[in-house]
Amino acid sequence: MSTIRVYVDNPVATINKNIYGHFAEHLGSCIYEGIWVGEDSSIPNTNGFRNDVVEAMKAIAPPVIRWPGGCFADDYHWQDGIGPRESRPSRINIWWGEDVETNHFGTHEFIEFCRMVGADPYIVGNVGSGTANELRNWVEYCNVPGNTTLSQQRATNGSPEPFGVKYWGVGNENWGCGGKMDPQDYAIEYKRFSTYLRDFGGSNLFLIACGPLQGESDWTRGFFEKLGDFPKIHGFGAHYYARVRDPEGTPLPEMFTGTATDYHNDQWYYQLHLGLEMEDLVLRQRAIMDGYDPERKIGLIWDEWGTWHPPAEGHHPRHLWQQNTMRDALVAATTLDIFNRHADKVIMSNIAQTINVLQAMILTDGNKMLKTPTYHVYDMYKVHQDATSVATRFETDDINFSMKGEDYTLPTLSGSASINGDILTISVVNLHADTPIEANIDIKGAMVKEAALHVLAYDDIHAHNTFDDPNEVVPQSSSVNVNDNWTYTFQPASVNVFKIRL
Ligand code: AHR
Repeated sequence: MSTIRVYVDNPVATINKNIYGHFAEHLGSCIYEGIWVGEDSSIPNTNGFRNDVVEAMKAIAPPVIRWPGGCFADDYHWQDGIGPRESRPSRINIWWGEDVETNHFGTHEFIEFCRMVGADPYIVGNVGSGTANELRNWVEYCNVPGNTTLSQQRATNGSPEPFGVKYWGVGNENWGCGGKMDPQDYAIEYKRFSTYLRDFGGSNLFLIACGPLQGESDWTRGFFEKLGDFPKIHGFGAHYYARVRDPEGTPLPEMFTGTATDYHNDQWYYQLHLGLEMEDLVLRQRAIMDGYDPERKIGLIWDEWGTWHPPAEGHHPRHLWQQNTMRDALVAATTLDIFNRHADKVIMSNIAQTINVLQAMILTDGNKMLKTPTYHVYDMYKVHQDATSVATRFETDDINFSMKGEDYTLPTLSGSASINGDILTISVVNLHADTPIEANIDIKGAMVKEAALHVLAYDDIHAHNTFDDPNEVVPQSSSVNVNDNWTYTFQPASVNVFKIRL
């Protein structure tokens, strides 16, 4: 039998609620159709924002949303997206299908969406094709309370009060779509751009530098070496997509992980293995950063992460639309558990992306919408936000599998635990595709008053929600009898959250 030990008296750190953050890019139908349909749409909306999407997002308590990209950010000029919509210029979205960008969704719309769903805005500035002056002016436009030309322009455009945007990204993937820089060149650009970004109106800016892809260490070392003791940096945003690349960097998902909905057991396991690699990346990235920043004044962020499946039939390949199954739900849950366990090392994460793109919370089709299994994980796990992560120990059997001639091992169970006031939350994932796993759960010393259990499980590992059947995969909740040491059998391929009142 497996054993899960929870050390309620052994705190790790507060789980920064921003670990449960999101990312919305001008890509495919994430913004247009997904969030924004315009006031004249027949789809029920408030000021142009889809009511169904706003309600669904609000319910999972998104702490922060990153925007406008992604690769789009380094080709975006914020002045295009302000003022009367009919006068905003149309541009080509060079990264994502060369779609026409109407700029109908700009800074004011983004801030309004964030307010509607209760999230803090995180804006990514254009370093690759923009200027330091342009980014400086965006900060002034958003945050200056007083009488400047830019703040008056903001007031004329409908917002006399400043937006108070705290989180600013200084470029995105500047080693790639953000300008193909080397880490030393980027460090020079980072210093130049951030020198001009100021805490207008007490906005207490939190500046985030571009980190590496897939945990690449040379970028991190090169950047921090060149940055020296430059103080205006608060976060370092790395990216990790759980997909396979060949040595030249070309993605090879189909061979190893199948498609979004069609995979066999070993491909299921391989996808989960890729997700679990995040733990090693967190440890390695933080260890390199600790060499330059031993007091951890600069926070490690994963501001893009998630599954990335082959293009779906019937969708433009550059729109990155994909279905989302129980397998994606398990990747989400195991990754969030990694971040919870390493709450002393990770301060924010933004899953890619909110709606209709990659590992989405929500899919829409005209006036229909569905919540994905990943959405339900975010709903079940929101109780971890701002709670104190406590130490756990999972003693489980291994799952052994092979892929392309290599042998791999996965744990059968993985998870995390946190305490907030008198609520102890234990989240547990059974990674086994077809075997229930019995475990003894030991929270020795804790006095249990009552407990509830929320389970996301389905007897088919390919299960997902469709527009015809949007509630095929939903969590089940029940009250359970637990004490400080009990035995529970976890269903195969399941995500489980115990909420225990002590
Ligand atoms: O999320 C899709 C793309 O992936 C982003 O635009 C880019 O930053 C990353 O490569």
